[in-house]
Amino acid sequence: MNMKTLIKNGRIVTAVDDYTADIFIDGETVTTIGRSLDIEADKVIHASGKLVIPGGIDPHTHMELPFGGTESSDDFETGTRAAAYGGTTTIIDFAVQTKGESMIAGVDKWHAKAEGKTAIDYGFHLITTDFEDKHTEEMYTLMDEGITSFKLFMAYPGVFLADDATIFRAMSAAGERGGRICMHAENGIVIDEIIKRALAEGRTAPKYHALTRPTIAEAEGVHRAIAIAEMAESPVYIVHLSCTDALNQVREARDRGIPAFAETCPQYLFLSIDDYGDGFEGAKYVMTPPLREKHNHGELWKGLKMDDLQVVSTDHCPFCMKEQKELGKDSFAAIPNGAPGVENRMGLIYNGGVHENRISLNRFVEITSTAAAKMFGLFPKKGTIAVGSDADIVIFDPGRSQTLSVETHHMNVDYNAYEGRTVQGVVETVLSRGKVVIEDGEYKGKKGDGRFLKRGECVAI
Ligand code: URP
Ligand code: ZN
Ligand code: ZN
Repeated sequence: MNMKTLIKNGRIVTAVDDYTADIFIDGETVTTIGRSLDIEADKVIHASGKLVIPGGIDPHTHMELPFGGTESSDDFETGTRAAAYGGTTTIIDFAVQTKGESMIAGVDKWHAKAEGKTAIDYGFHLITTDFEDKHTEEMYTLMDEGITSFKLFMAYPGVFLADDATIFRAMSAAGERGGRICMHAENGIVIDEIIKRALAEGRTAPKYHALTRPTIAEAEGVHRAIAIAEMAESPVYIVHLSCTDALNQVREARDRGIPAFAETCPQYLFLSIDDYGDGFEGAKYVMTPPLREKHNHGELWKGLKMDDLQVVSTDHCPFCMKEQKELGKDSFAAIPNGAPGVENRMGLIYNGGVHENRISLNRFVEITSTAAAKMFGLFPKKGTIAVGSDADIVIFDPGRSQTLSVETHHMNVDYNAYEGRTVQGVVETVLSRGKVVIEDGEYKGKKGDGRFLKRGECVAI
């Protein structure tokens, strides 16, 4: 017998609607929405005065990612549980094809890491390091298996970097079949030369990570990625866009009608280059692209409002200060790149976006859930509240506040990048496919509740 749940009198907000009603969930699916529903249910959740929104979708996470001589500290169990606490009910994580390995082998490794461990539903993109024409069939096999997006890097020579020919081949093949290339757009070859100079001059502190990756290196990467996509007649999605210079490249292309899309992340909206300071504590913020000057924040918010940026992801890639970030105590170049955030995304964006009047509630839902669902082939099962959709639902109390801290977060990492910051709004209850996984801020789910999502074609939204 299916569990039947009734959510009463909540303010239901989707990317396009805003109304008060009841939601009836039969098993995993929303089956009825209406006023004063009189249907018997096993569980009734009273949501008066609360926002009832689609579960968040974070399309950019790295659980158990081998990187910089270590592995990101959240696995699929701890990382997805933390995501659920923060109101995210779907992640899309990046599987990795290491150089010389087949694409399918890369995905198989990630299935082995995630299967039976997650608290919420999950999908994979594939970090693609080799792509010759002969890989096209393999790419299409993966697409048939629900992996419909692929990340290529213009940075990290020798590890992940793909040259322009590889990018062009991959974009052409993906574009042909409704697949999506996600680009890490930064000129890594020039950046590596700048890093060599800095190290030779004894500039080794974490802040030099930021000072050796100028915004123009990102803007050049974004420009080139879009130009290659245009030649390949394919859409392109820029990941973790961090600054105005890069955003302007996306704006210019979109103004010409080119299907260029981009995400930014909370760290680029709330943190800045000032957070590095002069000492080793700055290693907390060694991520790529790095934190930028504060003047970029306003433009990124404007980009989100005006749809030049479509998605807020986290690029959640946590490394503990102890023993992991410490690998780079003598050189910023040896600090594993990445920072935690999967648990804090919804709260931060609600606070900075809606509470501080930068975007509407509908746009908040769109950039944290709906757009990613459409962009990555999950809509309308995910990304909205509608009859027939998965009952991935967050009951959010806008009247309460919370203070973000390592003392209270659930991510497996020994610092919080937003330590001490108070945000308005609290995730109270979270349903993942109809099952209550968070109730009054407490975890009620179990390892393995989450399912692998076979994604469909990526839509140019
Ligand atoms: O610093 C970052 N972003 N680490 C994760 C890898 C990537 O480039 O997304
Ligand atoms: Zn990246
Ligand atoms: Zn990433």
